[in-house]
Amino acid sequence: MAARIERVVTSGTFTLDGGAWDVDNNVWIVGDDSEALVIDAAHDADAIARALGGRTLRAIVSTHGHNDHVNAAPALAERTGAPVLLHPADLPLWKQTHPDRAPDGELGDGQVITVAGVELTVLHTPGHAPGAVCLHAPELTTVFTGDTLFSGGPGATGRSFSDFPTIIDSIRDRLLGLAPETAVRTGHGDGTTIGDEAPHLAEWIARGH
Ligand SMILES: [Fe+2]
Repeated sequence: MAARIERVVTSGTFTLDGGAWDVDNNVWIVGDDSEALVIDAAHDADAIARALGGRTLRAIVSTHGHNDHVNAAPALAERTGAPVLLHPADLPLWKQTHPDRAPDGELGDGQVITVAGVELTVLHTPGHAPGAVCLHAPELTTVFTGDTLFSGGPGATGRSFSDFPTIIDSIRDRLLGLAPETAVRTGHGDGTTIGDEAPHLAEWIARGH
Protein backbone atom coordinates (compact mmCIF):
# COMPACT_ATOMS: atom_id res chain seq x y z
CA MET A 1 0.00 0.00 0.00
CA ALA A 2 1.33 3.41 -0.94
CA ALA A 3 -0.28 5.27 1.93
CA ARG A 4 1.90 5.89 4.96
CA ILE A 5 1.78 7.68 8.28
CA GLU A 6 4.27 10.35 9.31
CA ARG A 7 4.63 12.17 12.60
CA VAL A 8 5.82 15.76 13.02
CA VAL A 9 6.39 16.92 16.60
CA THR A 10 5.83 20.62 17.21
CA SER A 11 6.19 22.64 20.39
CA GLY A 12 4.19 25.47 21.90
CA THR A 13 1.79 26.38 24.67
CA PHE A 14 -1.52 24.91 25.77
CA THR A 15 -3.74 27.53 27.38
CA LEU A 16 -7.08 27.02 29.13
CA ASP A 17 -8.87 28.34 32.19
CA GLY A 18 -6.21 31.02 32.64
CA GLY A 19 -3.30 28.56 32.80
CA ALA A 20 -0.51 27.96 30.29
CA TRP A 21 1.65 24.86 29.83
CA ASP A 22 4.54 24.11 27.48
CA VAL A 23 3.61 21.12 25.33
CA ASP A 24 4.92 19.00 22.48
CA ASN A 25 2.22 17.90 20.05
CA ASN A 26 2.09 15.10 17.53
CA VAL A 27 0.97 16.23 14.10
CA TRP A 28 -0.01 13.22 12.01
CA ILE A 29 0.21 13.14 8.23
CA VAL A 30 -1.58 10.34 6.36
CA GLY A 31 -0.99 10.11 2.65
CA ASP A 32 1.11 9.01 -0.27
CA ASP A 33 3.49 10.87 -2.59
CA SER A 34 0.73 12.95 -4.16
CA GLU A 35 -1.87 13.76 -1.49
CA ALA A 36 -2.20 13.87 2.27
CA LEU A 37 -4.35 14.65 5.27
CA VAL A 38 -3.12 16.46 8.37
CA ILE A 39 -4.48 15.50 11.77
CA ASP A 40 -4.06 18.43 14.20
CA ALA A 41 -2.21 21.44 12.84
CA ALA A 42 -0.35 22.25 16.05
CA HIS A 43 1.87 25.26 16.71
CA ASP A 44 3.96 25.44 13.53
CA ALA A 45 2.43 25.72 10.04
CA ASP A 46 5.91 26.05 8.48
CA ALA A 47 7.09 22.73 9.91
CA ILE A 48 3.93 20.97 8.76
CA ALA A 49 4.15 22.50 5.28
CA ARG A 50 7.78 21.37 5.01
CA ALA A 51 6.77 17.82 5.88
CA LEU A 52 4.03 17.92 3.26
CA GLY A 53 6.42 19.06 0.55
CA GLY A 54 4.61 19.49 -2.73
CA ARG A 55 1.75 17.15 -1.90
CA THR A 56 -1.86 18.23 -2.18
CA LEU A 57 -3.36 18.68 1.27
CA ARG A 58 -6.93 17.36 1.22
CA ALA A 59 -8.01 18.42 4.70
CA ILE A 60 -6.86 19.54 8.12
CA VAL A 61 -8.70 17.38 10.62
CA SER A 62 -8.90 18.63 14.21
CA THR A 63 -9.28 15.95 16.88
CA HIS A 64 -10.66 18.64 19.20
CA GLY A 65 -10.72 22.38 19.70
CA HIS A 66 -7.99 22.88 22.31
CA ASN A 67 -5.67 25.65 21.18
CA ASP A 68 -2.59 23.45 20.99
CA HIS A 69 -4.31 21.22 18.42
CA VAL A 70 -5.76 23.98 16.21
CA ASN A 71 -3.54 27.05 16.61
CA ALA A 72 -1.73 26.58 13.27
CA ALA A 73 -4.78 25.36 11.35
CA PRO A 74 -5.83 28.66 9.72
CA ALA A 75 -2.26 29.45 8.62
CA LEU A 76 -1.83 25.99 7.13
CA ALA A 77 -5.22 26.28 5.41
CA GLU A 78 -4.23 29.60 3.92
CA ARG A 79 -0.99 28.22 2.48
CA THR A 80 -2.51 25.02 1.11
CA GLY A 81 -6.16 25.78 0.36
CA ALA A 82 -7.19 22.78 2.47
CA PRO A 83 -10.36 22.98 4.58
CA VAL A 84 -10.17 22.87 8.36
CA LEU A 85 -12.62 20.32 9.80
CA LEU A 86 -13.87 20.28 13.41
CA HIS A 87 -16.73 18.65 15.27
CA PRO A 88 -19.25 21.45 15.90
CA ALA A 89 -19.48 20.68 19.62
CA ASP A 90 -15.97 22.14 19.95
CA LEU A 91 -16.77 25.48 18.34
CA PRO A 92 -16.77 27.25 21.75
CA LEU A 93 -13.19 26.05 22.32
CA TRP A 94 -12.13 26.91 18.77
CA LYS A 95 -13.46 30.46 19.18
CA GLN A 96 -11.20 30.99 22.20
CA THR A 97 -8.24 30.68 19.79
CA HIS A 98 -9.73 31.86 16.51
CA PRO A 99 -12.62 34.24 17.28
CA ASP A 100 -12.68 35.70 13.76
CA ARG A 101 -12.10 32.60 11.64
CA ALA A 102 -14.55 29.67 11.64
CA PRO A 103 -13.62 26.13 10.59
CA ASP A 104 -14.46 25.31 6.97
CA GLY A 105 -16.41 22.14 7.58
CA GLU A 106 -17.79 19.79 10.19
CA LEU A 107 -16.77 16.36 11.42
CA GLY A 108 -19.55 13.98 12.42
CA ASP A 109 -19.69 10.50 13.87
CA GLY A 110 -19.49 7.86 11.14
CA GLN A 111 -18.17 10.25 8.52
CA VAL A 112 -15.57 8.64 6.25
CA ILE A 113 -12.64 10.65 4.94
CA THR A 114 -10.62 9.10 2.14
CA VAL A 115 -7.04 10.03 1.33
CA ALA A 116 -4.50 8.18 -0.79
CA GLY A 117 -6.95 5.29 -1.09
CA VAL A 118 -7.25 4.87 2.68
CA GLU A 119 -10.50 5.35 4.57
CA LEU A 120 -10.56 7.05 7.96
CA THR A 121 -13.79 6.81 9.93
CA VAL A 122 -14.65 9.59 12.38
CA LEU A 123 -15.56 8.34 15.86
CA HIS A 124 -17.15 11.00 18.09
CA THR A 125 -15.48 10.42 21.46
CA PRO A 126 -16.50 13.23 23.82
CA GLY A 127 -15.07 13.61 27.31
CA HIS A 128 -11.70 15.36 27.00
CA ALA A 129 -13.68 17.89 24.97
CA PRO A 130 -17.32 17.80 23.87
CA GLY A 131 -16.38 17.62 20.20
CA ALA A 132 -13.38 15.31 20.53
CA VAL A 133 -13.06 12.76 17.75
CA CYS A 134 -10.82 9.83 16.91
CA LEU A 135 -10.03 8.65 13.39
CA HIS A 136 -9.98 4.92 12.74
CA ALA A 137 -8.05 3.66 9.72
CA PRO A 138 -8.45 -0.13 9.74
CA GLU A 139 -6.37 -0.56 6.57
CA LEU A 140 -3.48 1.06 8.45
CA THR A 141 -4.31 -0.82 11.68
CA THR A 142 -4.37 2.55 13.37
CA VAL A 143 -6.59 4.82 15.40
CA PHE A 144 -5.65 8.46 15.87
CA THR A 145 -6.93 9.37 19.33
CA GLY A 146 -5.98 13.01 19.86
CA ASP A 147 -6.17 13.60 23.61
CA THR A 148 -8.86 10.96 24.26
CA LEU A 149 -6.64 7.91 24.88
CA PHE A 150 -2.94 7.83 25.71
CA SER A 151 -0.42 5.23 26.70
CA GLY A 152 -1.50 4.70 30.31
CA GLY A 153 -5.06 5.91 30.19
CA PRO A 154 -7.61 8.58 29.34
CA GLY A 155 -6.82 12.16 28.45
CA ALA A 156 -7.17 14.87 31.05
CA THR A 157 -10.66 15.76 32.21
CA GLY A 158 -9.93 18.21 35.02
CA ARG A 159 -10.52 21.44 33.11
CA SER A 160 -13.48 23.23 31.59
CA PHE A 161 -15.48 21.44 28.88
CA SER A 162 -14.19 18.01 30.07
CA ASP A 163 -15.98 15.16 31.84
CA PHE A 164 -14.48 11.94 33.20
CA PRO A 165 -17.53 9.62 33.03
CA THR A 166 -18.06 10.76 29.45
CA ILE A 167 -14.49 10.01 28.35
CA ILE A 168 -14.73 6.58 29.99
CA ASP A 169 -17.90 5.85 28.04
CA SER A 170 -16.20 6.96 24.82
CA ILE A 171 -13.08 4.88 25.40
CA ARG A 172 -14.99 1.77 26.48
CA ASP A 173 -17.73 1.94 23.84
CA ARG A 174 -15.83 3.29 20.82
CA LEU A 175 -12.13 2.45 21.20
CA LEU A 176 -11.46 -0.62 23.33
CA GLY A 177 -13.52 -2.82 21.03
CA LEU A 178 -11.21 -2.14 18.09
CA ALA A 179 -8.82 -4.91 17.08
CA PRO A 180 -6.20 -5.40 19.83
CA GLU A 181 -3.32 -4.94 17.40
CA THR A 182 -4.59 -1.47 16.43
CA ALA A 183 -1.86 1.14 16.92
CA VAL A 184 -3.00 4.09 19.03
CA ARG A 185 -1.41 7.28 17.68
CA THR A 186 -1.85 9.97 20.27
CA GLY A 187 -1.94 13.76 20.33
CA HIS A 188 1.10 13.93 22.60
CA GLY A 189 3.91 11.54 23.44
CA ASP A 190 4.43 7.91 22.60
CA GLY A 191 1.80 5.64 21.17
CA THR A 192 0.38 2.37 22.41
CA THR A 193 -2.02 -0.30 21.17
CA ILE A 194 -5.63 -1.08 21.97
CA GLY A 195 -4.57 -4.47 23.31
CA ASP A 196 -2.07 -2.90 25.73
CA GLU A 197 -4.62 -0.43 27.12
CA ALA A 198 -7.87 -2.42 27.21
CA PRO A 199 -7.02 -4.50 30.33
CA HIS A 200 -6.63 -1.32 32.41
CA LEU A 201 -10.10 0.19 32.07
CA ALA A 202 -11.19 -0.79 35.58
CA GLU A 203 -8.02 0.76 37.09
CA TRP A 204 -8.70 4.07 35.37
CA ILE A 205 -12.30 4.12 36.61
CA ALA A 206 -11.17 3.29 40.16
CA ARG A 207 -8.53 6.03 40.25
CA GLY A 208 -10.84 8.58 38.61
CA HIS A 209 -8.54 9.93 35.90
FE1 LIG B 1 -6.52 18.62 24.54
